[in-house]
This record gives sequence, C-alpha cells and structure tokens, in this order.
Amino acid sequence: MPRAVYLQTYGCQMNERDSEEILGMLTAQGYAVAEREADADVILLNTCSVRAHAEERAFGKMGALQQLKRERPELVLGILGCMAKAQREEVFRRLPLVDLVAGPAEIYDLPDLLARVAERRQRDLPDPGAHVLAVDRAVRPLDRRPPADYRARGVSAFVTIMEGCDKRCAYCIVPTTRGQEVSRPLEEVLEEVQRLARAGYRQVVLLGQNVNAYGKRFPDGSGWRGPARRRQLLALGGGGPDAAPPVDVASEAGGEAAGAARLVDFPALLRALDAKTAIERIRFTTSHPFDAHEELFRAMADCRAVCEFLHLPVQSGSDRMLRAMRRGYTAAAYEAKIARLRALVPDVALSTDIIVGFPGETDADFEATVALMERVRYDSAFIFKYSPRPGTEAAGWVDDVPRAVKERRNQALLELQARIARETLAAWVGREVEVLVEERNRRGQLSGKTRRNTTVVFDGPDAIIGALVPVRVARATGTTLIGEVSAPVIESSSERSPA
Ligand code: 5AD
Ligand code: SF4
Repeated sequence: MPRAVYLQTYGCQMNERDSEEILGMLTAQGYAVAEREADADVILLNTCSVRAHAEERAFGKMGALQQLKRERPELVLGILGCMAKAQREEVFRRLPLVDLVAGPAEIYDLPDLLARVAERRQRDLPDPGAHVLAVDRAVRPLDRRPPADYRARGVSAFVTIMEGCDKRCAYCIVPTTRGQEVSRPLEEVLEEVQRLARAGYRQVVLLGQNVNAYGKRFPDGSGWRGPARRRQLLALGGGGPDAAPPVDVASEAGGEAAGAARLVDFPALLRALDAKTAIERIRFTTSHPFDAHEELFRAMADCRAVCEFLHLPVQSGSDRMLRAMRRGYTAAAYEAKIARLRALVPDVALSTDIIVGFPGETDADFEATVALMERVRYDSAFIFKYSPRPGTEAAGWVDDVPRAVKERRNQALLELQARIARETLAAWVGREVEVLVEERNRRGQLSGKTRRNTTVVFDGPDAIIGALVPVRVARATGTTLIGEVSAPVIESSSERSPA
C-alpha cells in the first residue's frame, strides 16, 4: 500500500509554490497525493505567520486533526512553513499530537524528517519523544532543490526565483521565518521557464519575498551583496530626502559585488527570460519600493512578455508611519517612482498592501494614506489591520490604535478602493483587451485575465481555454470586465494604449 499525503496550504503564493515542491519530493518517494484528509496517512499544514489570524486558523485546523488522530493513532501530523519557525516548540505545547514541526528553510529535508518520525515511532518512543523539530537553518539551501516537481495544472505556473528577506520592516515576521535572501542561478530559472513554456504553460509568475533583491547570494557563493549595492540603489532613486534607508541585514562588510559588469539582477533576469524563452506572459511578486527603480521600469517597458502590472506595497501614506515602519522611503519618493513607471509603461496597473492601525497612527496619518490612494489610484489594494507579531520590533511598542478604529479605517479604505476600481474599470468599456483564458467559471462563462491582471468573463468555446484571445469589453462591474471575443487567437498584446 503506498502511503498517502494530504497537504493544506495557508498564506502567500510562495507557500503555494513550496507546497508544490513538497508534493514533488514526496511523490518521487512513492507517496500518493490524497484528495481528502480521511484518505491520508500523513497530513501536513503549510502555514503562515504574517498576522495572528493566519496562525489561529492553522492552530484551529490542527486541533481538529488531533481529534482524527485519536481515532487513528498511526496518522502522522506535521506543521510546516512560517508558523513552524515562528512558534517552534509552542506548537508541540499547544498541539501535543503533532509529530513534526519544520520551517521554510527545512523544506528539502522533509523526506528525511518524515523517515525520522517513522523510525521514532517504531522505537515506540512516547509521544513527546517522537516529536521531530527542524527549524534552525538560517538560509534555505537552494542547491539541494530536488529535481522532482508537482505543479497545479493550468495556464500559469509559479517559479520561485529567490527566497527570504533581508529587510527589517518593524511589523514583519517574514525575515525571521524565511531567513536570509538567496537567489536561484539565472541559468536554472531560464531552463525551468523554457521547460514550462514547452509543456504548454503560457504564463509564469516569478516569486520571491522581494524579487528586486534577485542576484543576491547564489548557491555557489557568487552574487552581489553588501554596501556597494546599497549605494547603487540609493543612486538609482533612493528613498527620498528624509528617509533612512531600510535596515538591511545583508550589509555585511567585505561583501562587495565582484564588479558592476558581472552583476546579475532582477531587471537582467526579466530581459533574459523575455529574450531566451518562449513564455508569453511574465508576472512577478513582491517588489519592495526601495529596490524597485528605473532599471526595473525600463525592463518592464522593453520586455514584450512582462505584463503591465506591478504590486508595489506602500504600507502607509504618512512619512511618520513609513519611518516608524522602517520602510526606507517617503511617500513623495514612492510616488516619484510610480510617476516614472507610468511614463515608461503607459496603462500599467498597480496594486498595493496597506496596514491600518500601526502603533501611533493618528487620524492625520490615516488621512495621508487616504490622500495617497486618491492620488495613485491603485487598480487593487490589500488592506490589513495591524497585528503585533512576537519577535518583531513593533511588537515591543504599545498597540495603541483601538480595534474599532482599525476596523473603521479598514472599512473606509476598502470603500475608497472599491470606488476607484469601479471608475477605472468603467473606462475600459469599448476597448479591446488581450485575455489569457483560464477556465470556465461556475456560471458557465469563460474567465481569464488581461495583461493588467483584470478578470474578464465572456461566452466562448472550451477550445480556447489556455489561449490568448482579443476580447471587446462590453460592460464593467466593480471587479470584472464583461466582454465578447472579437477575433481568433492573436499573438501579441493589443491592450497597450496606442502610442
Ligand atoms: N500586521 C498586519 N499586516 C501585516 N503585513 C505584514 N505584517 C503585518 C502585520 N504584523 C502585511 C503587509 C505586507 C503583507 C503581505 O501583509 O502589508 O505587505
Ligand atoms: Fe516583510 Fe518588508 Fe520583507 Fe515585505 S519586504 S516581507 S514587508 S520585511
């Protein structure tokens, strides 16, 4: 009987991709993938720690699974991902029937770790003795990436290009859970994307906590790091007159890049993927504003395959808050970058993350965020209520914005963003957009995405699922465009404004 694994994923796209790699490793070892918990011998939760709510969901879910284990003691339960790293032994304390806790940097150890769980079971160690805890690596060993893979079927594939985060935003647990920034070799990424294009994927989404840090720490020890790169970034736009550059744990002495000519960075990767692979659409996430600059915007403008879309989390429109958050830029410097991007890439879509209720946020700070959102007019925005994360700098500060105020500010920004999105979408009525057709939705219509990442629904045959088709926009709702196919499959973007 093959053993079956059930894996549930919480959190970001990086976690979704990690889960695919995990299933790749385990299926290569002979595991089957169970569709239901009841059919599984091993149940793993790949968890998130970014806000307290994400952790509580995973704790709640695992609590229920412990019930299942009481009925089936041979069941193996594991907590993986960011919460494993952030909570460590606390997981075993709250969930004593969990067998395995393994952090994001231990992902490639999983087959061994599961073998260790089995061996301890065989030795009949009492439950706490059977616990396996693996959370101590500071860096994911990218050179141990297994060749086996397992991907969600569809038209789009995730490709992790870097891992970890060297920034120290005051609120953020991610640098603690994901460890230092490391980059996958350019040739390896190129080969993977080419392989995906050959396998029929039309789009790749390049993933990293801060993709603009790509080029730092390749597995062979090469790659830029250190003060030279920071000076270069400051020269390329920096963060504005009164912004201290973000704290960067990688500014270690002696880590100068070997020479500007050999610098492989994110814009260079985009250009290489555009020139050397057959993939038709390239997206990427996430970009820290400090590390996003002219060279990136030029690459976006020049590369046919790179979609006109940028997720550039601003977090706040108040310089006072940005300073407290240690973001390393002012609102004006951020907006100057956006103006430059819009000049180079007409009609570029923008999305953002915003935190409301950060410690010390006054009505005036909040109004500055409202004003920034009114000026930038994002296409979409993720709004979060501040949640103190133990171990971060801000967790030591008083969480002084009352819950009701956080809620009110959250609601106000959601409403503002909904109005802006409705107005922006309405302006697309009558235009033609290029749609990558993804699926048939529950209402029986085809559904896909424009290059700007807007959802478009329209009537059409199954045969065009997976194709790029031109669609005439007939109507717009608050979130979606409704269209009609205007011609057979096309090759290139028709969505850019006429020059
Ligand atoms: N509380 C609320 N939101 C947070 N984020 C990160 N940490 C916190 C926190 N402690 C948000 C940021 C980030 C997004 C992924 O989650 O906006 O960009
Ligand atoms: Fe957190 Fe900042 Fe890193 Fe984003 S860039 S993951 S907000 S520390």
